[in-house]
Amino acid sequence: MALSIGSKSRPLTAAIIGSGPSGFYAADHLLKQEDLHVEVDMFDKLPTPYGLVRAGVAPDHQQIKSVSKIFEKLAQNSSFRFWGNVEFGKDVLKYEFFKYFDAIIYAVGTQSDRTMNIKGEDLVGSFSATEFVGWYNGHPDYRDLKIDFSSVNIAIIGMGNVAIDIARILAKSTEELSKTDIAQHALDQLTENKIKNIYLIARRGPMQAAFTPAGTKELFKMAEAIAYVNSEELKIEEETKKIIEETKEKRIIQNLQFLEQISKNDPTQHKKVIHFLFRRSPLELYGINKKVTGVKIVKNELFQDDFGNLKAKATDVCEDFSTSLVFRSIGYKTQPMQDVPFDDKKGIIANKDGRVFDLKNNKVIKSEYVTGWAKRGPSGVIGTNKPDSVETVNFLLEDFKNKTAEKFIDSQEFIIHSWLESKNVRFVPFEQWQILDSHEKEIGESRDKPREKVTSIEEMLEIIKNNT
Ligand SMILES: Cc1cc2nc3c(=O)[nH]c(=O)nc-3n(C[C@H](O)[C@H](O)[C@H](O)COP(=O)(O)OP(=O)(O)OC[C@H]3O[C@@H](n4cnc5c(N)ncnc54)[C@H](O)[C@@H]3O)c2cc1C
Ligand SMILES: NC(=O)c1ccc[n+]([C@@H]2O[C@H](COP(=O)([O-])OP(=O)(O)OC[C@H]3O[C@@H](n4cnc5c(N)ncnc54)[C@H](OP(=O)(O)O)[C@@H]3O)[C@@H](O)[C@H]2O)c1
Repeated sequence: MALSIGSKSRPLTAAIIGSGPSGFYAADHLLKQEDLHVEVDMFDKLPTPYGLVRAGVAPDHQQIKSVSKIFEKLAQNSSFRFWGNVEFGKDVLKYEFFKYFDAIIYAVGTQSDRTMNIKGEDLVGSFSATEFVGWYNGHPDYRDLKIDFSSVNIAIIGMGNVAIDIARILAKSTEELSKTDIAQHALDQLTENKIKNIYLIARRGPMQAAFTPAGTKELFKMAEAIAYVNSEELKIEEETKKIIEETKEKRIIQNLQFLEQISKNDPTQHKKVIHFLFRRSPLELYGINKKVTGVKIVKNELFQDDFGNLKAKATDVCEDFSTSLVFRSIGYKTQPMQDVPFDDKKGIIANKDGRVFDLKNNKVIKSEYVTGWAKRGPSGVIGTNKPDSVETVNFLLEDFKNKTAEKFIDSQEFIIHSWLESKNVRFVPFEQWQILDSHEKEIGESRDKPREKVTSIEEMLEIIKNNT
């Protein structure tokens, strides 16, 4: 007998890969459907949920991290299950999913980063934002990174919000950081630092700086550090002035006001200074014994392209910048996954508005969807992922409207549990994550911090085992 997909005896079954904001917002929209029975199973390669809310958002941004409370509440829905420590493409393969699910939604974010494609980028002392942010946030993949903070000067390439986060973490005192949930190994290593100057280096001008005003306010509240820009850096070209007058974009006006304000600071009076440098691009990282000792930088001028955008063009003026530590923070990209179409140019899962798309054959792939940063690239705050996931899920619902299936489903939970068990996958359900969560908070409380993150998967599993 044909059963309607989405009926009580034959719910619509969706697998969500990734438990960051976009995954949870997709689950929320699926489970909100009033006349539809939906079963949602969410998989994450880490035993811990919430993606970049845990591993990206800066440790001194606890207020922002509180969005996880909304996701935690959603996880209590009886039609929702979390299977942590299960990696798509390794522990479980795509072809297996279609035995158990009607649809897959990829919400895997952007696990790697863009490169500068310049000589010396691989030298010791050159790190990506993915590595450094993962390291200070206790992501298991980056906990063993060794970073030498004996350099007086630090170069950060890029001037978006992630670059600002990195600069702030490097600028804050041990006392300030010790009250956050920064990973203990990071706090220990940062305590030894000799940093005096942190240079944020943007390839274009002040108007094009990618950071947002909210993040700059905090740069006035640092205990030992100050933000500074030389007023020479703030001279803007006629085209830029015209654009500002025409668009009157609030973010840009506020950014320029911030820069104007910090140009009045005295950089000689503080232990550390965050410097803003504009119209400069790195040409090469050089070093001795495979370790960075400096960056060759070229000064840029801006020109208007055929579409009216102001772009950077190298001049023949170069400068040498002495440092043994360089962080590139120039954007992220999704890691390609086995059997999932990838758009190499954009660094995302190939898709048309959230429906996975086969670029070679120019057709939509049935029953596969994508949301969040893996769908649109690394832009936007946590909330931006909500409408994005709603759009993807609405397409999914449209595709499954009036669809039927032969077999009824009794307990999807039992089916998935048996499947993972049969494959010997050591999965971590939501209740077990909560055990770890309580453990981290308890240890954190005793040290006057929001939580003490456990950073090794082995240790996480041990704690869960000992407390179950
Ligand atoms: C450093 C940094 C700081 C940020 N700070 C803020 C902030 O202060 N405020 C704000 O609003 N926004 C902030 N953002 C933006 C915000 O974090 C993103 O908008 C959001 O996290 C994107 O959500 P997502 O679900 O697409 O991806 P993610 O949050 O990256 O989640 C992806 C999830 O997929 C999992 N995954 C990946 N591959 C697999 C696989 N093969 N199998 C199983 N699971 C997999 C990952 O483990 C992860 O849990 C920040 C971003 C960064 C990079
Ligand atoms: N507190 C928060 O709310 C918060 C915190 C962190 C992140 N986020 C969000 O997360 C998203 C990602 O942030 P992000 O900082 O990684 O990215 P971003 O905002 O896109 O900034 C990237 C920066 O890198 C520069 N860049 C790119 N390619 C370059 C190259 N080849 N050489 C030199 N510079 C290069 C860009 O300059 P051009 O402009 O010239 O390309 C820009 O300054 C953003 O939407 C951000 O708002 C939010």
